[in-house]
Amino acid sequence: MPLRLRHPRSLTAPRRKAGILPSLEDLLFYTIAEGQEKIPAHKFTTALKATGLRTGDPRLKECMEMLKVTLKTTSDGALDRHLFKKCVQSNIVLLTQAFRKKFVIPDFQSFCAHIDDLYENAKNLSGGQVADYIPQLARFSPDLWAVALCTVDGQRHTVGDTKVPFCLQSCVKPLKYAIAVHDHGTEYVHRFIGKEPSGLRFNKLFLNEDDKPHNPMVNAGAIVCTSLIKVMNFMNKLAGNEYVGFSNATFQSERESGDRNFAIGYYLKEKKCFPEGTDMTSILDFYFQLCSIEVTCESASVMAATLANGGFCPITGERVLSPEAVRNTLSLMHSCGMYDFSGQFAFHVGLPAKSGVAGGILLVVPNVMGIMCWSPPLDKLGNSVRGIQFCTDLVSLCNFHNYDNLRHFAKKLDPRREGGDQRVKSVINLLFAAYTGDVSALRRFALSSMDMEQRDYDSRTALHVAAAEGHTEVVRFLLEACKVNPVPRDRWGNTPMDEAVHFGHHDVVTILRDYHNQYSPQDSAAEKQNAEKNLDGML
Ligand code: DON
Repeated sequence: MPLRLRHPRSLTAPRRKAGILPSLEDLLFYTIAEGQEKIPAHKFTTALKATGLRTGDPRLKECMEMLKVTLKTTSDGALDRHLFKKCVQSNIVLLTQAFRKKFVIPDFQSFCAHIDDLYENAKNLSGGQVADYIPQLARFSPDLWAVALCTVDGQRHTVGDTKVPFCLQSCVKPLKYAIAVHDHGTEYVHRFIGKEPSGLRFNKLFLNEDDKPHNPMVNAGAIVCTSLIKVMNFMNKLAGNEYVGFSNATFQSERESGDRNFAIGYYLKEKKCFPEGTDMTSILDFYFQLCSIEVTCESASVMAATLANGGFCPITGERVLSPEAVRNTLSLMHSCGMYDFSGQFAFHVGLPAKSGVAGGILLVVPNVMGIMCWSPPLDKLGNSVRGIQFCTDLVSLCNFHNYDNLRHFAKKLDPRREGGDQRVKSVINLLFAAYTGDVSALRRFALSSMDMEQRDYDSRTALHVAAAEGHTEVVRFLLEACKVNPVPRDRWGNTPMDEAVHFGHHDVVTILRDYHNQYSPQDSAAEKQNAEKNLDGML
């Protein structure tokens, strides 16, 4: 095939001054500044929070530290383009993803509004009994109610009593099973423990036909699982170093009131369910200690999110668990995690979850988010009354059930990232924003890597429409920030200049003429291509 020579102009044309192309930092600035010269710091943090990111997110450490230092040098607490760039540049990839709505829940604020409604709905429930077999549990008010969520991109939302510490109790069972599989692999762990729902109460003195505990989510299985794990700093890593404590008083009480667990322990020992050389009583102590690990709803939502995210903690990026450990754990939470309600929960909610006697429900929406619900009053089967209501309502509202059809079941909300026909919608949105003169929408589109030169059926671009409508600010933005081709031709051969002249928009004519005189179209196209390449490389 003959080589096609590039047009000599593109090889010889002088490059424009460095720094004239919009950088990611500049695009972010334009998006947040909304046409102003400076961004007040609080405006930046408010916009940041609206994406779901927290200012305390470990991934934004450099940006927040620089912001603090920089603000001391300003008199008005606001950042111009240069100072803004200084603050955001170390974390620009994460920030750009957030503001480009590239996170798993793009419209995070409206999703959170739904979560708050579900929270309020469950708050009205009054049934259930707070566990009272030990004083440490009995002292909790039945009114306590909290929901916290963390997405796989680290977007956070909390509502209610989300900072009150409580014990994981049985919610720790899936975590220690995951740790055991991570350390030893599936085959080894399941030499000692089965994978079937037991159909019996969680603390039943009963083994399966092979004299093994039925699964790691019931006490017998969890006690054996305890004998397989050694490392405790897993809990901190799972929670992204957020609050993980220990209630020694609960541990002592659990041990003193733990006759059933001792009975199970001796039975397991008799049936040789532990690895060789295991000291059963010290394993029971460890079991009670693990039940007494304290979390808050917030920190536990990060643990759940680590499970949702294939074992990577979303807010630290650290790999904590192997994919095998996570997949096994989610499978067993799905079939055995909710006591004798597990079958019904799998049917109605269709998500992996694990409840505990302190009123926690650790819920995982795989690949999307982790949620911790906490409210002490329990139903007859031992599950948090408000927690069950919340999980059921969540899945009635959103298509999160494992077997919800994502393509055809349009009645439910899909808060996840849009795909599919997005491109079709985007040209309509783009031209509509140009028609109405909505520069802030255009800034958002540009930041989202939308092709700002897209054409409609008549080959008209946003620049044609803005020129015809006389929107000078839009014309400037498209030319100067987006570097669009200034002379595209529509199906009738008209350019934006023709439109501006035809409709008598002299100010637009001037802008287009000045721009044309300043830059040749060939330069513009080449540099735009360059800018796109840079964007693609960074994201
Ligand atoms: O083992 C026990 O009885 C309690 N410490 C744990 C209880 C719990 O959350 C119920 N679990 N399945």
